[in-house]
Amino acid sequence: MAPTAAAYVQPIADSTSVFKEDIFKGKVLFCTGGGSGICRGMTEAMMRHGANATIVGRKLDRLQQTAKELSEATGRECLPVQADVRQPATLEEAVAKTIEKFGRIDFVICGAAGNFLAPISGVSENAFKTVIEIDTIGTYSTIKATIAHVRASKGAYIHVSATLHYNGTPYQVHVSAAKAGVDALSAVLAVEEGPHGVRSNVIAPGPIANTEGMDRLSPKNVDKDKFNAYPVGRQGDVKDIANATVFLFSPAASYITGQVLPVDGGSEHTRYQLLPYPQSVLDPKSVAHLIKARM
Ligand SMILES: NC(=O)c1ccc[n+]([C@@H]2O[C@H](COP(=O)([O-])OP(=O)(O)OC[C@H]3O[C@@H](n4cnc5c(N)ncnc54)[C@H](OP(=O)(O)O)[C@@H]3O)[C@@H](O)[C@H]2O)c1
Repeated sequence: MAPTAAAYVQPIADSTSVFKEDIFKGKVLFCTGGGSGICRGMTEAMMRHGANATIVGRKLDRLQQTAKELSEATGRECLPVQADVRQPATLEEAVAKTIEKFGRIDFVICGAAGNFLAPISGVSENAFKTVIEIDTIGTYSTIKATIAHVRASKGAYIHVSATLHYNGTPYQVHVSAAKAGVDALSAVLAVEEGPHGVRSNVIAPGPIANTEGMDRLSPKNVDKDKFNAYPVGRQGDVKDIANATVFLFSPAASYITGQVLPVDGGSEHTRYQLLPYPQSVLDPKSVAHLIKARM
């Protein structure tokens, strides 16, 4: 039935319209996955508020281009470093380069991740392992490579998780398992490192528009009206995640650690499945035109 009145749509804010521009002056961010998408937006916001940053990923060309654009846009320094979170030695090198250039690490974003659509019956052991290796073990290795410096600066971590493991999301068993592991890692980190002055929290994005994640996972020609069913009336924007990042790293969040913050427009509670259910499970061929999936 059509709604009787139009729902309110929450506006998207710029972090600089709310938070002071110099709150991270003199601070340094280390961000895996910062070359693109959500983590790029998180890095840009931290730089807009005064931080210098290292961005880490496998594609050096893209990292270099992103670093140039972020520096030009914010007036801060951005160091692009090629590393694979599945290879701890490359992360240690990236940390060494960061210390050589900036002398410290205050904040770490563990955002590197991989994803694709596949049912349990279709996902290979190798593909499952790869996602665990990037998302979960990659987060562990990033923590190991950075913790001494974050302790020294009394800094903080944000891990980028998801909301899809709060219920059973079809075709996402690999990422559900991987992100549940990330949430658990963060809680232990908060407890073990809290007494050393380190905070650790998770941001769990809902569907965020114009990102690689949504491009890969959301059905083509998705009915945009579905997003009107979100309590805030719209799909997420990279700026929504960036704003939560600025808040959680700021001293205003000093009493917040060991938490998972869904930034999802309330969609966790309306629990809408992107693919038609149970049709997508009973008859995968019938949704093949909507998605690219490994059957
Ligand atoms: N988009 C969404 O709606 C959504 C929703 C929930 C959660 N998330 C989470 O948000 C984060 C960003 O997602 P996104 O959609 O913005 O996708 P994205 O642009 O593809 O970001 C993923 C980043 O991770 C890097 N990466 C992947 N494998 C890596 C590896 N082995 N070593 C180092 N870096 C690696 C990629 O760079 P290289 O290719 O250069 O390595 C890329 O910059 C992810 O953690 C994702 O799970 C996204």
